[in-house]
Amino acid sequence: MNKKITVIGSLNYDVILKIPRLPFKGETLTANGAAFSAGGKGANQAVQAAKLKTPTYMVGCVGTDASADFLVNTAKEYGVNVDYIRKVPGSSGMGVINAVEDGSVYACIVRGANFEVTKEDVDNAMPILKESGVCIQHNEIPVEIIAYAIDKAKEAGCIVSFDPNLRPPLWKSLDEAKAEIEYGLSKCDILKISDNEVEFLFGTTDYDEGARLIREKYQIPLVLITLGKDGSRAYYKDLRVEVPGFVQEHKIEPTGAGDTFCANSLNYILEHGM
Ligand code: RIB
Repeated sequence: MNKKITVIGSLNYDVILKIPRLPFKGETLTANGAAFSAGGKGANQAVQAAKLKTPTYMVGCVGTDASADFLVNTAKEYGVNVDYIRKVPGSSGMGVINAVEDGSVYACIVRGANFEVTKEDVDNAMPILKESGVCIQHNEIPVEIIAYAIDKAKEAGCIVSFDPNLRPPLWKSLDEAKAEIEYGLSKCDILKISDNEVEFLFGTTDYDEGARLIREKYQIPLVLITLGKDGSRAYYKDLRVEVPGFVQEHKIEPTGAGDTFCANSLNYILEHGM
């Protein structure tokens, strides 16, 4: 397998508010502090893959605003190849994250330049997709581009990982949200999905059953379910592997933890095969 990773996806300027609890309706709550960082599911995953010393390409768009150079330069500093990040007029993507003291996270994103990624961007990336063993995708660029990019990545011989990033409250309806991710689910080789998303999709908190339903419906070879503090589970052929969570001695703000998990898992697959 080619030992490179290509990520096709989002770059966001993240504003992370550290708050003791969620504000009530109408309340102005004072945050304990704020952090400003380069984020976006795509960039987070690309940076983590590069940190593991895997040659990693990022395909995506940033705007022409103040955060654009910061986003590109941060990815580059971590070793990500940024030659396939295109600048488009307007704002870069943005994340506004409420990180509550108890470890829960409530996030919103602004699409910005992430929704300017085109089929041409994907076509331009074909040479690097052909050099890559794994292509990572997630639901933060236009859905028609995801579908196109999945097909192209498979044509190039990549294993395709998909993170559906289902966000019902931001959509008109849960059915519409489900329809948007259907193509990714039906075509990916690896699905990285959270416990909440399994619940949204299948109405169950029995994640073994959720995984069974996902695999039965979409024939996905490898399903990875993240379970927050309870760790994660992997389902592959007849195997079910459970990795329990563990408690850190010091608190770590968890934004992007799922992205880090995803990149680590895919890096392992890149090195050892499925
Ligand atoms: O998964 C965390 C990421 O989701 C954040 O960096 C935010 O920008 C959103 O994309």
